[in-house]
Amino acid sequence: MITDQYGRGVSYLRLSVTDRCNLRCFYCRSCKYLKFIPHQNILTYEEMFKIIQAGIELGIQKVRLTGGEPFVRRDFLYFLARLRHKFPFLDLRVTTNGTLITNKVLALKDMGINCINISLDTLKPEKFQEITGRDFYHQVRAGIDRCLEENIRVKINIVALKGVNDNELEDFVQFALTHPVDIRFIEFMPIGGRTMWNRDFYWPAKEIIRAVEKITPLEPVNFKTSKCSPGSTSGPARIFDLKEGQGRLGVISPLSDHFCDRCNRLRITPDGKLRACLFSDKEYRLLPLLRSPKLGPVQLKKVMERAGRKKPLGYNLLSREKNRQSVCQRVMSSIGG
Ligand code: 5AD
Ligand code: SF4
Repeated sequence: MITDQYGRGVSYLRLSVTDRCNLRCFYCRSCKYLKFIPHQNILTYEEMFKIIQAGIELGIQKVRLTGGEPFVRRDFLYFLARLRHKFPFLDLRVTTNGTLITNKVLALKDMGINCINISLDTLKPEKFQEITGRDFYHQVRAGIDRCLEENIRVKINIVALKGVNDNELEDFVQFALTHPVDIRFIEFMPIGGRTMWNRDFYWPAKEIIRAVEKITPLEPVNFKTSKCSPGSTSGPARIFDLKEGQGRLGVISPLSDHFCDRCNRLRITPDGKLRACLFSDKEYRLLPLLRSPKLGPVQLKKVMERAGRKKPLGYNLLSREKNRQSVCQRVMSSIGG
C-alpha cells in the first residue's frame, strides 16, 4: 500500500464518473455559472477501469463512485456490474442523490452493493425544492424505502445548514429512531470558486450532537465494529448508536474537527485529474497519460503512487476559510464529494 510522508496509508479511491447532475443544490455549485466539462475530456468507462486496476495494484481496497450524480451517466449500472465482476473483492460503494435509483435497487442488490449513501438535506418537499431547485423529494424517499425493503443499508448525508435545516433536527432524529439508517450531518465546506459558503450557514458538529443529546441518548460506535465500514477503510464520520431506536446518527466535521490525520483517500475527477486532497487544487492529469499511445499502466501507476506519497495535510489549507474564501477553485460536483 502507498504510505505518504505523514505515515497515512492510501487505501480508498473516490471516483467521480460525471460532473453532471439532475439537481442544483445551492451549496454544491452556483447555477448561474454552471459549466460542464466537455464530453471529449470525460474519462471513458474503459479509462476508469484502468485507473481502478492501477489503484488496486497499489493497494486500494475501497472504491466509491460519485458524481455529480452517477446515475445520470449512461450505462452507469452496467459499469458497476462490470466492476463488480472484474474485482469481486473490492469494497465497492456508491454515493447518489437518490432521485433515479428506485427501479435499480434490485440490480444493485444482485451485484452485492449492500450499502448506499444518499444525500437528503430536508424531510420537507417544499424545502427540498428550495435547496435543490427540483421537485424530486418523493423520488428520493421512494429510493430510500426501496433500499430498506431490500435490506440495503442506507447512509443519509445531510449538509448541516444553519437557518435552513437546523429547525428539522427533531424530525431527522425521529427518522433515525424509526428507520434502520445512518443519518450523517456534514459541515458545509467552502468548496468551489464561487461557493455560497458563509459563516451564517455554519452549524458545527458539536452543536448538533449537543442538541441531539437533548432529544435522545447517544452511544459512540467503535469504528472497528461498524456494520457498514469495517476495518481500516472506514470513513471520517463519528457515529453514535441511538439507544432507543433502530438507526444511528453521525457527524462529519471537516471544519471543526478535521480528520486529515487519518485521511486515506485519493480522488479522481470526471476529467481524469487525481486530487490527493479535497482542499488542495494540486491535480495530477491522468487523461493525457491514458490516451497516449506510448504510455501505459506502468506510467499510470507511477503518477498515482507519487500523488499518494505527496498527499498534503488539508487542514493547513483550511485557514483561508476564515477570510470567507473558498479553499479550492473546483466545484464539489466535479470533485465528487
Ligand atoms: N459541503 C459539504 N457537503 C457537500 N456536499 C456537496 N457540497 C458540499 C459542501 N460544500 C455533499 C453532498 C453529498 C456529498 C457527496 O457531499 O450533499 O451528500
Ligand atoms: Fe447534485 Fe449532489 Fe451537487 Fe446536489 S450536492 S447538485 S445532488 S452533485
